[in-house]
Amino acid sequence: MKLNKIYNEDCLVTMGKIPDDYIDFVITSPPYDDIRNYNGFQFEFKNIANELFRVLKNGGVIIWVVADSTINGTETGTSFRQALYFKEIGFNLHDTMIYYKNNPMPQTGNRYHQHFEYMFAFSKGTPKTFNPITEPTKYRGLANMKNRGQNGSLNYEKVERTTEKKVGNVFFYSVGGGISTKDKIAYDHPAIFPEKLVADQINTWTNENDLVYDPFMGSGTTAKIAHLLKRKWFGSEISKEYVEIAEARLKEHTKNNLFTEI
Ligand SMILES: C[S@@+](CC[C@H](N)C(=O)[O-])C[C@H]1O[C@@H](n2cnc3c(N)ncnc32)[C@H](O)[C@@H]1O
Repeated sequence: MKLNKIYNEDCLVTMGKIPDDYIDFVITSPPYDDIRNYNGFQFEFKNIANELFRVLKNGGVIIWVVADSTINGTETGTSFRQALYFKEIGFNLHDTMIYYKNNPMPQTGNRYHQHFEYMFAFSKGTPKTFNPITEPTKYRGLANMKNRGQNGSLNYEKVERTTEKKVGNVFFYSVGGGISTKDKIAYDHPAIFPEKLVADQINTWTNENDLVYDPFMGSGTTAKIAHLLKRKWFGSEISKEYVEIAEARLKEHTKNNLFTEI
């Protein structure tokens, strides 16, 4: 396989060339429910999920970002069906996380505004890497701890509190023009990831030099962020038009080290 390359083909064709137990981490947002037809290409979910299981290393993690569309008055449930299929073929459903959009497209009708997508973490065995994102705890440093003595008197003791704690599994991002990315050309693709989302997940589940794969590379967000975070990467994207967008976007960020053999 060649590193730092987006294969302009069906991801099933790319994965057909990848040896077993090869990839450390996958982050992707698949096309779902024909919500956009991405130049008319179809995707074969079950075959793709099976291949992802084969090419992922033990301890590897997939972040699968997906939502449902509403058809004939009901949400399709595609996201749940996909999650259960991943479990059926051997993945652990390690964590059902939420990608919360602070500023979604407003919706009319009798439903609340659609603020989130699922961000499923599937693992092949136990995740081999977990570098949790942390935030400061509310009450930091030394604190007075009260406990009652045997005679009922109150004793005060100084205890050290932890200053940082893991964040929750709902991740909040603002999205849209100039926010998801500063790369104007990326917006020629209709459904891009916020760069921060990709950075947070790559930092959590991988270390430097790990190999990241995105089977639905779109505008190249995963490629750009993996490169900036010093991870190895490659991807697949079936549409030539989107590969050209991604390559133009990446040129500036990857300079001369494209197409390294591994
Ligand atoms: C939701 S978009 C991904 C966007 C990407 N996360 C980004 O930040 O730009 C899904 C992409 O999958 C591509 N696609 C659809 N079927 C495919 C297949 N079988 N193999 C590879 N890519 C495919 C579409 O052309 C589309 O660009």
